[in-house]
Amino acid sequence: METKVIQTDRQQSRILLGEKISNLKNYLPTDKKVVVITDDNLYRHYHAAFDQFPIIRIGQGETNKNMDTMAFIMSQLIEMGVDRSCFVLGIGGGIVTDVAGFAASIFMRGVKFGFVSTSLLSMVDASVGGKNGVNSGGFKNMIGVFNQPEFVVCDYEMLHTLERDEFISGFAEIIKHGAIKDKDYFEYIEKNADKAIAIDPEVIHELVKKSVYIKASVVEADEKEKGERKKLNFGHTFGHAIEKLTGIHHGEAVAIGMMMAVKASQKFNFISHDEAEKIKKVIELYHLPIGIDIKANDLFSAMTKDKKRDGDSISLILLKGIGSAVIHKMSYKELETLTYDLC
Ligand SMILES: NC(=O)c1ccc[n+]([C@@H]2O[C@H](COP(=O)([O-])OP(=O)(O)OC[C@H]3O[C@@H](n4cnc5c(N)ncnc54)[C@H](O)[C@@H]3O)[C@@H](O)[C@H]2O)c1
Ligand SMILES: [Zn+2]
Repeated sequence: METKVIQTDRQQSRILLGEKISNLKNYLPTDKKVVVITDDNLYRHYHAAFDQFPIIRIGQGETNKNMDTMAFIMSQLIEMGVDRSCFVLGIGGGIVTDVAGFAASIFMRGVKFGFVSTSLLSMVDASVGGKNGVNSGGFKNMIGVFNQPEFVVCDYEMLHTLERDEFISGFAEIIKHGAIKDKDYFEYIEKNADKAIAIDPEVIHELVKKSVYIKASVVEADEKEKGERKKLNFGHTFGHAIEKLTGIHHGEAVAIGMMMAVKASQKFNFISHDEAEKIKKVIELYHLPIGIDIKANDLFSAMTKDKKRDGDSISLILLKGIGSAVIHKMSYKELETLTYDLC
């Protein structure tokens, strides 16, 4: 087990890489009432590990990441009679951690919280970095806060009960980290695809660790996404729109979004044909999709609803080679033309 400490201006968060859910008590406060927020899947597989605490169960899937679920959680917390001294423990994938972190941040103006991160996607991305929130009015992650969890337990053994398509989805964010920040890491991701997919413990540890370190360094430099953190949105401007239009998994949509961003990078002569082909190959090695049949006007109109807009322009993340991302500001008109070219 290794610990990575994330230090922001206001807070400290400990990411416990390879820790076991059975050791949870070592991290929980002994002087506070602990309340668990989880979903039905995690409850079914792992409830024995947290049955001693009161539990709030939320529905599965992106459609439950909304303000109705928040209202439900608030009413449950009030009914349980907990006060400001409680501790919220989110146990689940990215949806549970996004929702639980937000609920803890607003209940009684904020209580402390921690996570057991149970999907690959949440270990390498969603539960790290302190973005918590829900979707609203057809906009993704529209309402939320920046607030760091006290700790995040990443128990790799829990990945064995994750559905295969959900597991595969997590590799999209791993590939993203290599593509935007670290060429050597990208090579490692490429070389170890078979072992990674087979949940080889050493390879999974290396991937989660490296991705967490990359995300931590970005978050430490720019917690509130004023500049550098925007690079983590590589593949997400197109990806969020595709996710919304088709309902495919977040990671699958991000993989397609990354391919579109790579093609755009090629169009601007930022990246060579060989590098673009290499990224495509790695996405395919991880059994992720590289394209989808979608109408340009639907995609463009969904993209203009992305909250990452900045007045009349949008920041698209492109690559200037593998391991190096750039923030490319473009007008909506330019984005529209580009989308029609790419589709
Ligand atoms: N906050 C952030 O910085 C950030 C970053 C990336 C993604 N996200 C968000 O994360 C969400 C996607 O996360 P996700 O893919 O983990 O989704 P998820 O939470 O829906 O988990 C996927 C599915 O797998 C199940 N599951 C999770 N862990 C399991 C396990 N160990 N065993 C059995 N089943 C398990 C869940 O019940 C669910 O059905 C999206 O809403 C996305 O916007 C947030
Ligand atoms: Zn993502």
